[in-house]
Amino acid sequence: MLLAPLWCVLPAYLANSSAVLWGGGIPVDLGRRFPDGRRILGDGKTYRGFAGGMATGLALALVLNELSPLAGMPLIPLAAAVAFSAGALLGDSAASLLKRRLGLRRGRPAPGLDQLDFLIGALSLAYLVAPDWFVSVYTVVGTVEVVAVTVVVHVSVNFFAYRTGLKAEPW
Ligand code: CTP
Ligand code: MG
Repeated sequence: MLLAPLWCVLPAYLANSSAVLWGGGIPVDLGRRFPDGRRILGDGKTYRGFAGGMATGLALALVLNELSPLAGMPLIPLAAAVAFSAGALLGDSAASLLKRRLGLRRGRPAPGLDQLDFLIGALSLAYLVAPDWFVSVYTVVGTVEVVAVTVVVHVSVNFFAYRTGLKAEPW
């Protein structure tokens, strides 16, 4: 298995997952609604989640870059680190916009989208911001691998949370 694509995308994982811990307070859409009465993003997208997720993702990229010579992994350029963190949060928000348009309330599941929204956002933005670096690490095989590992990790974590009683449903 190629480890570099997984290593480099870790800041996107952490930006997305730590937003849950940072989240709360004022929603990014400030409670505004579309003319049809549905929220633009909903209460699950907050300024605190964005700021905290961004900072945590960037901090992890700095730590990884300290360790990368030892681990034999590529350095993550600052532009890519910003793109992975911001792209993860933006991809997740784009999915919320889509879910609200489809009439799904905040927190309702959208299988597939909920698991991959952040990754699509992160990889797309990194490609736009640092294309040369991106294609040097993310070959087709590397990209497919990152997507597959993300799906497996999500399914396993949710199943574990269900079996241990942390979650009511296994998805
Ligand atoms: N969160 C946040 N700000 C973000 C992303 C996430 O505050 N930019 C926090 C919110 O507390 C949110 C939680 O992380 O409830 C889980 O995120 P997510 O699953 O993306 O949101 P949901 O509440 O499920 O809402 P949605 O239906 O819009 O996905
Ligand atoms: Mg959710």
